[in-house]
Amino acid sequence: MKELIKKVVETYGPAGSEAQIRELIRSEIAPYVDEMRVDALGNLIALKRGGGKKLMLAAHMDEIGIIVTHIDKNGFLRFFPVGGLSPLTLIGNRVMFENGTLGVVGAEKLEAQKDLSLNKLFIDIGAASKTEAEVKVGIGDVACMSREFVDLGTRLVAKAMDDRIACAILIEALKAVREPTYDIYAVFTTQEEVGLRGARVAAYDITPDLGIAIDVTRTGDTPESITMDVSLGKGPTVKIRDSSLLCTPSVRKFMEEVAQQNSIMYQLEVLEAGGTDAGAIQLTKGGIPAGVMSIPCRYIHTASEMVDYSDVQNGVKLLVGIMETEFKG
Ligand code: CO
Ligand code: ZN
Repeated sequence: MKELIKKVVETYGPAGSEAQIRELIRSEIAPYVDEMRVDALGNLIALKRGGGKKLMLAAHMDEIGIIVTHIDKNGFLRFFPVGGLSPLTLIGNRVMFENGTLGVVGAEKLEAQKDLSLNKLFIDIGAASKTEAEVKVGIGDVACMSREFVDLGTRLVAKAMDDRIACAILIEALKAVREPTYDIYAVFTTQEEVGLRGARVAAYDITPDLGIAIDVTRTGDTPESITMDVSLGKGPTVKIRDSSLLCTPSVRKFMEEVAQQNSIMYQLEVLEAGGTDAGAIQLTKGGIPAGVMSIPCRYIHTASEMVDYSDVQNGVKLLVGIMETEFKG
């Protein structure tokens, strides 16, 4: 599975520019689903028929990035964030445009560290003039972080673990499921990082009986970290709340029972800040029962997001268990 993870995390795909990652996922899942289509928002909607209720599983394939706002006469690019991006994580980092152009993030001279903000930063693509830069990059072009996948053994590090690790888990679960008890709508959603937009229209279109998002969540296990009862290596989480939803109690209970019945280690998650596609799914039409399985992740929204491989493997098991267990709530 590590090879699949390497491929999906390294592929380009900021919010609104998901074509490359969508094509990769499409080719990975084609042998394992009955139907596939792409909607107007770019969501990849795959159906695996098992009969019964409609289960929507959402993993967002977009990642955070930057969009070019200005190119100066010396060829330096100014930019605006696509999704939640902190200037603290950017200096010295590299970004990659859709056509493969690489750039380095530099900073203006700052009087004090507190003056560091995104508008003091620029991107240097190695061009000596505006004309030279414009051969490779134009206004409105979007880039993601550029960083190689690293396998530290148990811990895996990459850009875009948020949320490609969930894409990889959903792909593996589609391969592994033997007796699905639902018509499973596996949706690789777009534009999550800019406001859960892809999931919103996909859920409206599908009108599932049950919706579960798969995403990453923060942890409380690093030096002087936030207070949070989630750690790397203690299993995927069953979410209780985040800023986008209060998970439907019957869904949370169902997910916990599936974990217990299959002896899968899991953690309960209360996330103070941040949202997930489940927030959009839950508020569709007259309301949809919704929950979230999260993979604990350190350094979210940096170029070096870290997950634990055992959590990933247990995440696949829990997702397969969900696919094979009827939700009666
Ligand atoms: Co995110
Ligand atoms: Zn995410």
